[in-house]
Amino acid sequence: MDDRLIIGISGASGAPIAIKLLKALRKTSVETHLIITKGGEETIKAETELAISQVSELSSASYDNGNIGAAIASGSFKTRGMIVVPCSMKTVAGIYSGYSDNLLLRGADATLKEHRKLVLVTRECPLSEIHLRNMYELSRCGAVILPPVLSYYNKPQTIDDATEHIVGKILDQFGIEYDRFCRWRGV
Ligand SMILES: Cc1cc2nc3c(=O)[nH]c(=O)nc-3n(C[C@H](O)[C@H](O)[C@H](O)COP(=O)(O)O)c2cc1C
Repeated sequence: MDDRLIIGISGASGAPIAIKLLKALRKTSVETHLIITKGGEETIKAETELAISQVSELSSASYDNGNIGAAIASGSFKTRGMIVVPCSMKTVAGIYSGYSDNLLLRGADATLKEHRKLVLVTRECPLSEIHLRNMYELSRCGAVILPPVLSYYNKPQTIDDATEHIVGKILDQFGIEYDRFCRWRGV
């Protein structure tokens, strides 16, 4: 069974996007293998009503970020790829430099070395030259930089609508249809 995605939640604002993504993937046949950083735990606490354990339960399997011996640390564990959502600038820097001192970073490193798809939902505002450089370089290395940018053509009425649009954009990267995604159909 290779229909797996690694999902990393790091400490940038946007934990509700990760939760909606996990809920959407539960309705598919894709297994989700989840890692939450300490920073990710902080943003989940700050931005959602869910306990960390409730977020973990949305995944097929969850891992301790310190467990660098977990299955997903190896490229031999076959996956479709990995999504880091939200992706902090610290995690961007760690992936870009190849400094894989936690399981999330190692999973991203393995995903890139195997030339599998790595989608980074990078979030900071405003962006410094360091952030921009790191994202540019990661894009050159094959990562997809997919910031959770608002769009208006889908006429979002609520923050949930806006979040669902971003989830649709992320899932599109893996060819997974999302019924809450409102595509532009031309004028
Ligand atoms: C509520 C909250 C929101 C944050 N938002 C961001 C953000 O949007 N982008 C970012 O790069 N860091 C943000 N941070 C800072 C990161 O969490 C911090 O740099 C942390 O060390 C990231 O570590 P990690 O990538 O291992 O999770 C935020 C922190 C908190 C507590």
